[in-house]
Amino acid sequence: MRTLMKVVSMRARQRLLRLRAIGTGEFVALGIAAVVLVVGPASVFAYGRWMDRNVLVVHAQQWQYAPNVLHATAGVPFRIRLVSEDVVHGFRIIGLDAQVTELIPGKSMDLTVVAPKPGTYVYMCTTYCGLKHARMFGRLIVAPR
Ligand code: CUA
Repeated sequence: MRTLMKVVSMRARQRLLRLRAIGTGEFVALGIAAVVLVVGPASVFAYGRWMDRNVLVVHAQQWQYAPNVLHATAGVPFRIRLVSEDVVHGFRIIGLDAQVTELIPGKSMDLTVVAPKPGTYVYMCTTYCGLKHARMFGRLIVAPR
């Protein structure tokens, strides 16, 4: 009788332990779900808000960019908002992945830019926009972090 009681109580304990293990697993799964569902979108939203504050507006017009000198920090992403004031222009930063081939008047275009290394980068117009097209350029000065 005693042995039978011991076996029953051992089985009950094992079942209880199994239940606890499932409970812990579910708790961990809920924690992960909470992080994915709450922290993920919140950080994307916060990054978007931060990027919206980190916008450099550049006006293009025959035959210059205003401003023609931009400042940034190495490794920190920022946004360039390009606006053409007259005809179709282009924009490209040499050495970086930042290019717009058709900057249409009346429409603004955003470029997200990251300069990995400090230094001076040249940006220029890449679409023929008239007589002095080739003189249309500016400088992006990237400071170390
Ligand atoms: Cu502006 Cu070419």
